[in-house]
Amino acid sequence: MNKNKTLVIIGAGGHGRVVEDCAESIGCYNNIIFLDDCFENTSPNAQKNLVGPIKNWHQYRDTADFIVAIGNNKLRASLLQQLASDSCFISTLIHPTAFISKKSKVASGVVIFANAVVNTGARIDEGCIINTAATVDHDCHIQAYCHISPGVNIAGGVNVGQFSWLGIGSSVIEYITLAENTQSGAGAVITGSTQSNKLYLGVPATPVRSLI
Ligand SMILES: CC(C)(COP(=O)(O)OP(=O)(O)OC[C@H]1O[C@@H](n2cnc3c(N)ncnc32)[C@H](O)[C@@H]1OP(=O)(O)O)[C@@H](O)C(=O)NCCC(=O)NCCS
Repeated sequence: MNKNKTLVIIGAGGHGRVVEDCAESIGCYNNIIFLDDCFENTSPNAQKNLVGPIKNWHQYRDTADFIVAIGNNKLRASLLQQLASDSCFISTLIHPTAFISKKSKVASGVVIFANAVVNTGARIDEGCIINTAATVDHDCHIQAYCHISPGVNIAGGVNVGQFSWLGIGSSVIEYITLAENTQSGAGAVITGSTQSNKLYLGVPATPVRSLI
């Protein structure tokens, strides 16, 4: 990250505004702008720093860092991969109030919001969202493009498959494996390994429907 640089946030919705706030709290960019396709349907003044549609990223490639602020895991993955293959520099944003163990690993394209905790030995792969006050305990592996929603608590040694979305306030007990694209509803308590592409609800959580 470079203090004299611009940050381009792709996605100007609610999540994008939290990403903006996170970047401002870190204080590492002197200019923060948004690209979003809603630019084409709204007045240019609707969002002060919304400067164009997503396809305009090429204009900023040589002078800015990028972060993708889109909640949809698959869409975020696709955009991050396109940016990376176009040699854009992908940032990583960690709010100053988050605790990130020095013995953890956080990949590029990850955002970690206020009061989140990533404990020792944990690994957060590319493009994940660790949302407000979520906790990821020791030795967890959060695979790429997951969204760990606000207030989620993941106990030690859990492996979360890529593209998973754990809903607000859900909990996961220790040393289990969540398969790719596991989704949990608000408040669910996951007590065993999951099957891929399934939504889990309740306490203890059970699969209620397939996601594909
Ligand atoms: C699970 C979820 C995705 C389901 O959304 P949906 O498909 O629109 O479901 P609906 O709201 O139509 O509800 C369908 C049924 O599931 C129940 N239900 C919904 N969410 C539930 C939850 N978290 N736990 C238990 N039951 C739930 C509803 O009460 C409803 O029951 P009914 O059929 O008996 O009336 C959603 O409720 C949820 O929990 N989202 C998480 C949101 C979140 O984490 N946001 C964070 C953003 S940063």
